Amino acid sequence: RMTTQDDQKRAAAREAAKLVEPGMRLGLGTGSTIAHFLDALAERVKTENIDHACVATSVTTERRAAELGIKVTALDGVLDLAVDGADEVEFGSLHLIKGLGGALLREKQIAESSHRFVVIADQGKLVSRLGERSKLPVEIVNFAVARTLARIGELGLLAEPRKQANGKAFISDNGNVIADCVLPGRIDAVALDRALKSIAGVVETGLFTAGCDCAIIGYDDGSTRCFE
Ligand code: A5P
Repeated sequence: RMTTQDDQKRAAAREAAKLVEPGMRLGLGTGSTIAHFLDALAERVKTENIDHACVATSVTTERRAAELGIKVTALDGVLDLAVDGADEVEFGSLHLIKGLGGALLREKQIAESSHRFVVIADQGKLVSRLGERSKLPVEIVNFAVARTLARIGELGLLAEPRKQANGKAFISDNGNVIADCVLPGRIDAVALDRALKSIAGVVETGLFTAGCDCAIIGYDDGSTRCFE
């Protein structure tokens, strides 16, 4: 039987939930794939009575985790394992584009604070070069937005401020604006990330050039595969 994209996300999430061990401090990502991970984690926490402490990358994840009986605390130390989704996973390098959900800043803080960072995704997220199917989200300060967008433009990226469905500006959990940028063909992700971050007004980029320790991908035949 062919699986849906949602089945692929769930399969990857269930594999990741197996990595959780008693006493772990966990980072929880954001998005529809992570929603499945929270369900699987809650099930393990309940049936196996697993001692745990979690840090959430967004207000949405924090609320959902609390509803499911997962213990959420503030980030004030090192985490054992962080699990998150991604918008693109580059085959080979395991570099990522993240932030379509707007949570990229806290997601990167948590990824950097974790001993192990695992990404879960459906097969449609695997790309041969970053920017193939997704724009690059860049979080910028809500001041002189047009000027910051112009400076991003000077790097060869077409940058537009994200809007909500009602036409108003999208504002992140941190009170910032998100610029969605079209990448110009193949990029040097490390150099581009540095160049963007050297612009005053850029808070963080959705380029995760440290990649991940492992990407668990769900496939349409129902299987999962782990890339390291
Ligand atoms: C949130 O800011 C993003 O980085 C998400 O991790 C990403 O959008 C994945 O979301 P889905 O699991 O819904 O595709």
